[in-house]
Amino acid sequence: MSDPQTILVAGGAGYIGAQACKALAARGDSPVAVDNLSAGHEWAVKWGPLEVCDILDGAALEKIIEAYKPSAVLHLAGLISVGESVAQPETYFENNVEGTRSLLHAMAKGGVTRIVFSSSAAVYGTPQRTPISEDHPLSPENPYAETKVAVEGLLSDAAVRGDLSYVSLRYFNAAGADPDGESGEAHDPETHLIPLALDAAMGRRETLDVYGEDYPTPDGTCIRDYIHVADLADAHLRALDYLAAGGDSCCLNLGNGNGFSVREVIRACEAAAGSAISAQTKPRRPGDSPELVSDSAAARRILNWTPRFPDLDQQIAHAWQWHERYFG
Ligand code: UFG
Repeated sequence: MSDPQTILVAGGAGYIGAQACKALAARGDSPVAVDNLSAGHEWAVKWGPLEVCDILDGAALEKIIEAYKPSAVLHLAGLISVGESVAQPETYFENNVEGTRSLLHAMAKGGVTRIVFSSSAAVYGTPQRTPISEDHPLSPENPYAETKVAVEGLLSDAAVRGDLSYVSLRYFNAAGADPDGESGEAHDPETHLIPLALDAAMGRRETLDVYGEDYPTPDGTCIRDYIHVADLADAHLRALDYLAAGGDSCCLNLGNGNGFSVREVIRACEAAAGSAISAQTKPRRPGDSPELVSDSAAARRILNWTPRFPDLDQQIAHAWQWHERYFG
């Protein structure tokens, strides 16, 4: 167990950031959420102070770092929609890359030298082999993914200079909600499969669109590796401890290594909600890979990380508990 620390959580009012704040507080650390509330929610910040601030505002960040003196940063502040990034690449580069540069600058001024960054499986593009390990070539296929690769480059360059150490966590598909029902997914607009399927189960939308049933997969729909948000949060804490112990900078996949098809996810959502989902086949969504499944052996080994909720039904049960509470 390490001594209690203050951790700055950029994006701390978001789906994964809020869960990370809860996990930090649960072990006695003090999370300080920094969020511009463009996508995050004030209600999601329950485990420490909220500083409403855009990471592009370097002067404000410097003041926050000066006031709280965090020992490290979790950086989850980023725009996350692939489709939106194609329509607005400059916005994505400004927020995700320039925002990170601003954050790194403020950290350097404040003497903060450790950072854990939210990256994505999107950095691999359409995989050449599966499961995907970290040495798979990077092949970003949209501006969102390009920003993740660019930030990993910024971090790597800073680490080579000796300015900081970092862990870049490449999430596969985040799923589930806080097991106690205190926070969960609430994007607006929502684009992710599980909350949209639960919306359809609840009657908040008439039908769910299934983007492509002609993929080279057993049932023709895309396969993804769903990882529980509490397990993502746990990996962040372990990454902080790893860096504090002097660990080398690295990039790590976070997934369970099990793939589920869109049709399987829909069936699991129907079972959790106890109602049928009307699903209609639509054309493929541009940019979707047929199959994204992680090899997360490195995170298990280096961080001593074992996902607590690898079971899809359990993940969706937590998502449904949250969905009913928030939207019901
Ligand atoms: N899907 C549907 N209908 C929908 C929504 C999604 O059929 O209404 C399908 C998609 O085509 C895909 C699967 O469900 O095959 C999962 O889609 P999500 O949008 O839930 O998630 P993605 O796999 O597209 O995206 C996630 C993250 C991104 C990240 C990407 C790759 O949300 O941030 O994984 O790592 F870039």
